[in-house]
Amino acid sequence: MNEFIYLDNGATSYPKPEEVYTYMDQFYRRLGVNPGRSGYDICIEAGEVVENTRKTLTNFFNGTDPNRLCFSYNSTDALNLFINGMLEKGDHAITTTIEHNSVLRPLYHLWKYSGIEVDYVPFDDKGFVDPDDFKKCFKANTKLVVVNHASNVIGTIQPIKEIGKLCRENGIAFAVDASQSAGKIPVDMEEQYLDIIAFTGHKSLLGPTGIGGLYVREGVEVRHTRAGGTGVRSAVKTHLDEYPYRLEYGTPNTLGIAGLLAGVQWVEKQGLQHLHRHEMKLTTKLRDGLKQIEGVTLYCQDDLIDHISVLLFNVDGLEALNTGTLLDVDYNIASRTGLHCAPLVHDQLGTTEIHGAVRCGVGPFNTEEHINAAVEAVAEIAEMQKKRR
Ligand code: ALA
Repeated sequence: MNEFIYLDNGATSYPKPEEVYTYMDQFYRRLGVNPGRSGYDICIEAGEVVENTRKTLTNFFNGTDPNRLCFSYNSTDALNLFINGMLEKGDHAITTTIEHNSVLRPLYHLWKYSGIEVDYVPFDDKGFVDPDDFKKCFKANTKLVVVNHASNVIGTIQPIKEIGKLCRENGIAFAVDASQSAGKIPVDMEEQYLDIIAFTGHKSLLGPTGIGGLYVREGVEVRHTRAGGTGVRSAVKTHLDEYPYRLEYGTPNTLGIAGLLAGVQWVEKQGLQHLHRHEMKLTTKLRDGLKQIEGVTLYCQDDLIDHISVLLFNVDGLEALNTGTLLDVDYNIASRTGLHCAPLVHDQLGTTEIHGAVRCGVGPFNTEEHINAAVEAVAEIAEMQKKRR
């Protein structure tokens, strides 16, 4: 049996750094109580871990107030919290065709059921949106622009600083979905004119699943769309307005928060640049290898500048699912096939009709040997497919 090679880091990072496993185990054994609800020592200590994680992430995103960093279950949860908490009947929102369903579906629901208008900015042949296209869509009732910072399908990094600046100049709130970018490249509230960042903990921040969050700039209005326990001021009948309680509900995922703290600390210790360079070196090697294979089509991978380590391809004439299954069963290589929860990307690439494509996501623990093995495997699959035709 071949060594297992994990190239599905776009879905979640695996494995996690050893420090994450160790810290989570120790934290939950020693401090696995409900944080901030009582005054006994380990309850206070568990609460301190939560607040330390808030502070660490606020600094990581160059925010100013740790209370504006709210924890959620994942990016989808964070995106739903502010999309539904900001838009009202008669409002207009702008997004892109590069979005994940975590943005497309909440906006579609609001369009269908609540009278919200939505415009979709397409990406160009190389996979990038043009900031001027947003400007062309601005209207008097435009309230929110939401953009996927780095595509989970083709890996392109969008010019969020330019879009953010235009939004700021026009008094429109600007939110980024940093699911794929946080932990890979800088996501910076100040530098990039961001009003809201939605992130998940389990991808490049290297924490576990079930934890994510959002940072909301002061002055940006987000209504609470849920209500419940906050652990403080229990006599108040409505959900609390002040942050972070405003967007947090019930007992938090403390184990996830602890794991996320260990993950982000590991990322900071390695350095974003170092990690990104390693991943892009391997992604470039993979791209170069796949490009040499006759019968392989790569999508938006000509120029890997402004890219993260996600690569999309198909073996001509073979359904993506079949290529993925062969990689898995015959070569022990994990990838992700299909539409990757981002149907408009595939519509635009023309890959929806052929049921999507194969995605490889390179992570911090991949090696050159993994890439060599993946290229060899795809070359053999393509050769086999050629003989069948
Ligand atoms: N959004 C994740 C992906 O792209 C799950 O695979």
